[in-house]
Amino acid sequence: MIYVAILGHGVVGSGVAEVLRKNRDSIAHKAGEEIRIKRILDLREFPDLPYAELFTKDFQDILKDPDIRIVVETMGGLHPAYDFVKSCLLAGKSVVTSNKELVAAKGDELLEIAKENNLNFLFEASVGGGIPILRPIDQCLAANEVYEIAGILNGTTNFMLSKMIEDGMSFEDALALAQKLGYAERNPAADVEGHDACRKICILASLAFGKHVYPEQIHTEGIAHISSEDVKYAAASHRVIKLIGRAVKRGDGHLYGIVAPMMINQSSLLADVRDVFNGIMVRGDAIGDVMFYGQGAGKLPTASAVVADVIDEVKHLKARKYLFWERGSEDYVVDYTEGQTAVFVRLKAADKQAAKNQIQSALGQVEYLTYPEAPEDEVAFITQKLPEKELDAALQSFQGAEVASRIRLADL
Ligand code: HSE
Repeated sequence: MIYVAILGHGVVGSGVAEVLRKNRDSIAHKAGEEIRIKRILDLREFPDLPYAELFTKDFQDILKDPDIRIVVETMGGLHPAYDFVKSCLLAGKSVVTSNKELVAAKGDELLEIAKENNLNFLFEASVGGGIPILRPIDQCLAANEVYEIAGILNGTTNFMLSKMIEDGMSFEDALALAQKLGYAERNPAADVEGHDACRKICILASLAFGKHVYPEQIHTEGIAHISSEDVKYAAASHRVIKLIGRAVKRGDGHLYGIVAPMMINQSSLLADVRDVFNGIMVRGDAIGDVMFYGQGAGKLPTASAVVADVIDEVKHLKARKYLFWERGSEDYVVDYTEGQTAVFVRLKAADKQAAKNQIQSALGQVEYLTYPEAPEDEVAFITQKLPEKELDAALQSFQGAEVASRIRLADL
């Protein structure tokens, strides 16, 4: 019998308790041991639950209990999750977490502590909810030099964009629905402003390239400024707008990373990733492109990944699994303005011909876009692929025309 504790009985934590209890027999069969929840930490009361007697408000009840070998952290946020997880590892308990904020900020340090103490620290659920992605990168694709990872990493914003594009829903209604369905973070700004996707691309890049990438090193833009006009211009050019997280290992050993809304071709596999689903493309030198697809958020899909990690830890209580990356460094990630991209631009201009003359001289050849009922005072176009710095300088040089939108294109 292996005893576990769960820190936090929110959406994911309650899902973990549900799956562990519901599938107890099959899980015991796969783990080779019965797995039983001994304690659940939460400040709230749950008197009506059939396992109400397991709850405690005191973390010490878990930390000091030598029977508890594995701790599941599903509280979210950095504090007190970081202090609790670190204390558990230092006390000789293996840890499973779904907390991407924690892994993206402190993964290198916590992996080091786990290694020093011959313990496991696993976090499959931190990226892609229920989609197996970290274990495949770490194990199944180990023969490859992975050189790029790009994907739709946030279920809430993908759900919102899908509702806005396909059902004409407003931004606010789409967000309210995503929250009601349990997809959004406690603070949904983390979804909408791209921080959640940023944390996930940091974890993916850290694992794939072996060196920690910290969230503050990745340029991050959210979807709040995406308008229905942008969506219509995208459709007119056979493209869709998706919030994309991208990390590329450059030939010089440095990393380029970005999170931003991007226009991608309707024929891209990622264009068909709708609603709360995530799609993650991994590019390796031997395998080519591999795509991982599934439900990226939600109670039971995420609990599924957490419980699989618990089973793996039960099977590796004696011989630690190898999962590790080294500490990051300040100069590892290049500034995003060093990248090159084509962009979609929507200009508000009273004198459209004058605007077009400026576009021609500042940016050279562009592709103009329109759609039926496009606003009269707008010029919309797609540039060639150019250095970001050059694009910014050109767009800032326009006189009598205001940039209403600037959305990168991605060839994915
Ligand atoms: N808020 C996150 C999302 C939850 O929408 O993808 C899963 O990490």
